[in-house]
Amino acid sequence: MTQKLWTNIEKYFIGMIGEDAVLKAALKDCKKAKLPPIGVAPNEGKFLQLVAKMVSARKILEVGTLGGYSTIWLARGLGEGGKLITLEYEKKHAEVAQKNIARAELENVVEIRVGDAKTTMPQLVNEGAGPFDLIFLDADKEGYTRYFEWSLNLSHNGTVIIADNVVRGGEVLKARSKDAGVPGIRRFNKAVTKEKRVSATPIQTVGSKGHDGFAVILVE
Ligand code: SAH
Ligand code: DHB
Ligand code: MG
Repeated sequence: MTQKLWTNIEKYFIGMIGEDAVLKAALKDCKKAKLPPIGVAPNEGKFLQLVAKMVSARKILEVGTLGGYSTIWLARGLGEGGKLITLEYEKKHAEVAQKNIARAELENVVEIRVGDAKTTMPQLVNEGAGPFDLIFLDADKEGYTRYFEWSLNLSHNGTVIIADNVVRGGEVLKARSKDAGVPGIRRFNKAVTKEKRVSATPIQTVGSKGHDGFAVILVE
């Protein structure tokens, strides 16, 4: 009952959110390619876009592309001449994403880098690709703490880091959860709490993707 209500409320608000045909087609192609249905919900996608606009983002980094659904939301929030780099481990996911990004006419704005973010993130640091105005962490949860540390090296004062899936239906409360992502998320939440260069808060969410949440982190 509760899940049904959350989903209905999400449907009720869809017009306000404005998920368009390009985003819908992207999701359809993700499904066709049998990618796991773990992209952000439309309201979270729109939220990411709004944050990009609020910080007047010209450079965005995303860690975990999947089929490019969140990528499109984010890239549409960039200012004129802005760029987004998105990191993805799975070649197949990157290929699906590339097509979805082309359909969204964002191929000149978005660069997908295929590889393990544990390699590609330090590469970004080495080549001086930063600082980014907005960073969205959404890849393997085990790697979150390291992605957070590299993110700090790719940030300036005022960079916003958003980390997805910090609640996991409440599994985050369990030190011995069956959810394989939880230990990584718990380490990450602790690392953020301890880090003096940032100020952060979790936002819990409900909707078509169940009960989860994301952390909003400001580098200051
Ligand atoms: N941001 C996407 C969802 C990402 S799902 C959206 O909301 O639409 C997580 C993605 O991270 C998957 O595509 C997975 O292949 C990728 N991933 C997992 N481990 C990774 C790693 N070590 N480096 C880069 N990407 C990784
Ligand atoms: C999973 C990953 C995600 O990024 C997400 O939003 C939901 C689920 C997962 O790996 O299970
Ligand atoms: Mg996620």
